[in-house]
Amino acid sequence: MKLFDVYPLNNITINRAQGSYVWDNNGAQYLDMYGGHAVISIGHTHPHWVKRIETQLEKIAFYSNSIIIPLQQELADKLGVVSGKTDYQLFLCNSGAEANENALKLASFHTGRKKVIAFSKSFHGRTSLAVAATDNPAIVAPVNETDHVIFLPFNDESALSECFKAHGAEIAAVIIEGIQGVGGIVPATIPFLQLIRSLCDQYGSVYIADSVQCGYGRTGQFFAHDIAEVNADIYSMAKGMGNGFPIGGILIAPHIQSKHGMLGTTFGGNHLACAAALAVLEVMEEENLMSMAKQRGMYLMNQLKAIEGIENVRGRGLMIGFDVPEQLKGLKKVLLDQYNIFTGEAKPNVIRLLPSLALSRKQADEFLEALKEAILAIQTNAE
Ligand SMILES: Cc1ncc(COP(=O)(O)O)c(C=O)c1O
Repeated sequence: MKLFDVYPLNNITINRAQGSYVWDNNGAQYLDMYGGHAVISIGHTHPHWVKRIETQLEKIAFYSNSIIIPLQQELADKLGVVSGKTDYQLFLCNSGAEANENALKLASFHTGRKKVIAFSKSFHGRTSLAVAATDNPAIVAPVNETDHVIFLPFNDESALSECFKAHGAEIAAVIIEGIQGVGGIVPATIPFLQLIRSLCDQYGSVYIADSVQCGYGRTGQFFAHDIAEVNADIYSMAKGMGNGFPIGGILIAPHIQSKHGMLGTTFGGNHLACAAALAVLEVMEEENLMSMAKQRGMYLMNQLKAIEGIENVRGRGLMIGFDVPEQLKGLKKVLLDQYNIFTGEAKPNVIRLLPSLALSRKQADEFLEALKEAILAIQTNAE
């Protein structure tokens, strides 16, 4: 049987990983500035995470949500403390798309309304409503097309106010990434997030903070949206939550009430996933990873801004992007092929850095040196 060919692949097989490094099947070492797609939060194969999962595996890996799973409450308590949203409620699922799907569905149940506001260049996942709220027609199948989603320009306060003025009573939810990831590392402005909060209050709509990529401590705050100092009604999470063990979830404000059967999942919140997620939060606390991410991110940003050739360095904490001008086209590939460094990208010309929150200063320097050399090599070759 063939694999369904949907991913353009690098011709590399990774079979070992530790911290911010991975190794291929020939033993070559790579620096992972991509965090395996923003997923590796505490570092690959962190010993505490491995031990927690192994210990759990020997007891029980899975039983359905028809019984009490104390690890879920333990995770909810810990998440409350680490995120600062102690009075929120937790629903667990398995991925980012699923988290947003449930967030949007819950907003619709809660308000009894159908319309969702999303923004230009947004990415919220590939399932039905999540993809309908994603600004990329190429990945929206005909069956996912809906006129329930209104797309507005990102960070445009007057467009948002106008839309609420015209349709406020129909709006179930506004969904927004704190920093757009796939869209090219574009932060939402503080006044824009504050306006979303006040319009949602005024019209009884639900503010959904998609924190799948920008959340879980990556920016130095638990949720990137926290920078605006207003609370969202629902936060969606996944990626960094399990450090590679599949788990997602939504944090739900106390005023949104649950009802049996409203949401549900077979695998969400299983014993093994909860153990992995608890290990992540324990390590984040123990190793002070949110403040590490903030510090390391500031260092990287300052150093990157001083590098000639790359443009528009931006982001927060360890969610950083920069533009690669036409003369340096191919920089990402040179970094991978010649310097063994994985980076992320956003079309058409953005390099995205999403390393583990435990990236060391030495590893940051290793990346910066390689980047300077790679730029020089491309420039010299072009002459
Ligand atoms: C902001 C955002 N939301 C949702 C998703 C979807 O997450 P998943 O791929 O786990 O379904 C992603 C994935 O890249 C994302 O970046």
